[in-house]
Amino acid sequence: MRLLEVKSLKVYFKTQAGLVRAVDGVSLEIEKSEILGLVGESGSGKSTFGYAVMRLLPKNAVVTGEIFLEGEDLLKLPIEKMRKIRGEKIAMVFQGSMNSLNPIMRVEDQVAEPLIIHKGIDEEEAKRTARELLMQVGVNPEKAKSYPHELSGGLKQRVAIAMALALHPALLIADEPTTALDVMTQAQIMELLKTLRVEYNMSIIIISHDISLVSEVADRMAVMYAGKLAELGPTNEVVLKPVHPYTQGLIASVPKVDSFALKPASIPGDPPDPLNLPSGCRFMPRCSFARSGCESFDGTLFRVSRDHLAACLLAGERLHGRSVG
Ligand SMILES: Nc1ncnc2c1ncn2[C@@H]1O[C@H](COP(=O)(O)OP(=O)(O)OP(=O)(O)O)[C@@H](O)[C@H]1O
Ligand code: SF4
Ligand SMILES: [Mg+2]
Repeated sequence: MRLLEVKSLKVYFKTQAGLVRAVDGVSLEIEKSEILGLVGESGSGKSTFGYAVMRLLPKNAVVTGEIFLEGEDLLKLPIEKMRKIRGEKIAMVFQGSMNSLNPIMRVEDQVAEPLIIHKGIDEEEAKRTARELLMQVGVNPEKAKSYPHELSGGLKQRVAIAMALALHPALLIADEPTTALDVMTQAQIMELLKTLRVEYNMSIIIISHDISLVSEVADRMAVMYAGKLAELGPTNEVVLKPVHPYTQGLIASVPKVDSFALKPASIPGDPPDPLNLPSGCRFMPRCSFARSGCESFDGTLFRVSRDHLAACLLAGERLHGRSVG
């Protein structure tokens, strides 16, 4: 069953230097209880996508497209209704949120706050529920009265996740939930998300630049490049049989523990300047497969198998030009 359906989403930021096309025509859907990994290099538009779903974009953003949550277009909702949906239906663990916990508030009080505000629960009951939530995400009861500075990075991230879970959202957007954590803690946070998906029967979008880490838990992967989807499909297919040269590059750049290679391959060049995007395929300046036609390719997604789409001209040609728009 479908929970979220995003159609032709565009988010352009108006700046003094020009228009930043941060998200430029992204369409995807998320099933109930599904984990979707949204990956790509810095600046590809991952967080902007998350903020758009939450309708928390800054004033200089111009948004078009549709974002249906259980059939209701969030972009058309009055702001009061959207405020209720935030937290209760969709919650976001913001990028860097473990470092923006309130430093002068005990963590159980921070987790209790949304319960008091949204549900009108009295303080003592809210704190009790907060301690239960903290326990569920792996924060021991004796740590519940701690201040953020008394906790490790991993525990602070667990607190941030507990805050997002407080109102039992149907969709959790976790934006770079493991940044700045050691490898072991990263894996533990991913495992936690996997467990919570079942316990809360919720869908999760995990936003990350780390394709390898997210592919351990995601059912499907969406790869973004310069505001567009490069590839979308079941994790196994995207990771084991990547079609888009950008996805292939991301996977090749993952260090392999069993490899004698000194350094993993890296994608040559840098992502494009968002104010000055290349015409045609945006990956072309970095693509070793680029050929005639790529300079005017509009990034159409081609269906390479039942649920696997890739925005590369070569994939389209292999399929005799059959496009799915
Ligand atoms: N308020 C804003 N005004 C202008 N440009 C913005 C604004 N917010 C984001 N951008 C630009 O939009 C593009 C996408 O940014 P976004 O933060 O969504 O990328 P990201 O994929 O989350 O990157 P990272 O991995 O670094 O978090 C970037 O070029 C960024 O500089
Ligand atoms: S469309 Fe062309 S330039 Fe773009 S990824 Fe495919 S081969 Fe490379
Ligand atoms: Mg981001």
